[in-house]
Amino acid sequence: MASLTVRKLDEDLKASLRLRAAKAGRSVEDEVRMILREATEGTVAAAVSPVRSTHQPHRSRAPEVKGLPRVTLIIGGGIAAYKALDLIRRLKERDIHVRCVMTRAAQQFVTPLTAGALADERCYTDLFDAQSEFDAGHIRLARDTDLIIVAPATADLMAKMAQGQADDLATAILLATNRQVLVAPAMNPLMWANAATKRNVAQLARDGVAFIGPNSGEMAEANEAGVGRMSEPTEIAIAADAMLRPPATGPLAGKKILITAGPTHEPIDPVRYIANRSSGKQGFAIAVSAAEAGAEVTLISGPVDLDDPAGVRVIRVESARDMLAEVERALPADIAIFAAAVADWRIANAGAQKIKKTSAGMPPLQLVENPDILATISKLKQNRPSLVIGFAAETQNLIENATSKLKRKGCDWIVANDVSPASGVMGGDRNTVHVLTLDKANVAVDSWPVMTKEEVADALVAKIADTTA
Ligand code: C5P
Repeated sequence: MASLTVRKLDEDLKASLRLRAAKAGRSVEDEVRMILREATEGTVAAAVSPVRSTHQPHRSRAPEVKGLPRVTLIIGGGIAAYKALDLIRRLKERDIHVRCVMTRAAQQFVTPLTAGALADERCYTDLFDAQSEFDAGHIRLARDTDLIIVAPATADLMAKMAQGQADDLATAILLATNRQVLVAPAMNPLMWANAATKRNVAQLARDGVAFIGPNSGEMAEANEAGVGRMSEPTEIAIAADAMLRPPATGPLAGKKILITAGPTHEPIDPVRYIANRSSGKQGFAIAVSAAEAGAEVTLISGPVDLDDPAGVRVIRVESARDMLAEVERALPADIAIFAAAVADWRIANAGAQKIKKTSAGMPPLQLVENPDILATISKLKQNRPSLVIGFAAETQNLIENATSKLKRKGCDWIVANDVSPASGVMGGDRNTVHVLTLDKANVAVDSWPVMTKEEVADALVAKIADTTA
């Protein structure tokens, strides 16, 4: 086991460690331990750390899944708090990331341990909890979210919200947020009907807070019925989903678009592969433009060094055959754009183990042709997208080669570009393209000026929108 001497660390690192430790109210040594524990959590921490707070059933902060909408769920102190636990599951079912906060009163009804276990992230409870302030803090909980849900919202919690009080973690988050807030009230019918509650609800509505419920029905208390039951978890989850994913607008709203991007990697053995220089930038840019135009976009990408674009379903693949399988799975689609630089060949005799260097010389690598995804989809009898667009990256005789590709592969348009080394297109940020469209037997060529890949994407999406309108 290695040993570490904090004294020997460089001055800048020591200074920032001291600052973090002071903020968290820990010694520098404890702070280092905390950082190491955080870094190894899920593997070493459970075995190494003998004492774990019961409030931390899992890692303190679950890895946020990129692109998923995020909810901070504030659980208030009412009997309906048990339904908030079901709400966590209903939200997660809808691919919504949930982070829970509980008021002190809520903990009389349900435990942070249960909420944390269901959300797969610790439940936050205390404004002055060093741990919360260290790794989340009320400002982060208020802002690193797309929606705050208060469920159940008690009469007391709504009164505090209406007045702007901030004397605990839940109310501090609600005061510090600039995000949408959805409130699901739950209380006794007489409390709901009380003039004070009515004033508070009206004030909160004026402040832009959205409400769901309460419903009418039987209360937890015996022989009590009326308006005051918290909305069912499914109803709240549907309302939250609608706020987080409002219906798309734009010229491609309602259209399903399938896009391929990037290179493919064709294995030689478990550690080596054949690849090409495609960066995936053009295909990713088209996915962004199409999503911005309101389309439902599925982007199937080979290995690239690019982040998932917001609002796009991204499927990562390695080889041409994987890409074809995912493309077929993503059908039906209205429009398909094949921007990937798919390897034409793969190794027929790829090794199951790393091929060793021997005195017998180089191993013979036999190549076999990959399926042509563009041609396969263009020639489908059933489920063929009504507009199929291919790319033609050429180093010579651009228009001539692109025209014959358009006819041979059976697609509707070809976006042709010069990828000779002098053009700087492969891996670069700019592109000069010619869009070839096939109308019966006639090919029309639309030549665009040099543009950034984002501008090419916008122009292509605008042309698609014009054609499919
Ligand atoms: O034949 P070539 O590779 O130049 O064709 C380019 C076009 O065909 C691109 O749209 C590319 O995405 C697509 N293609 C494909 N599957 C292959 C090879 C190319 O979809 N195996």
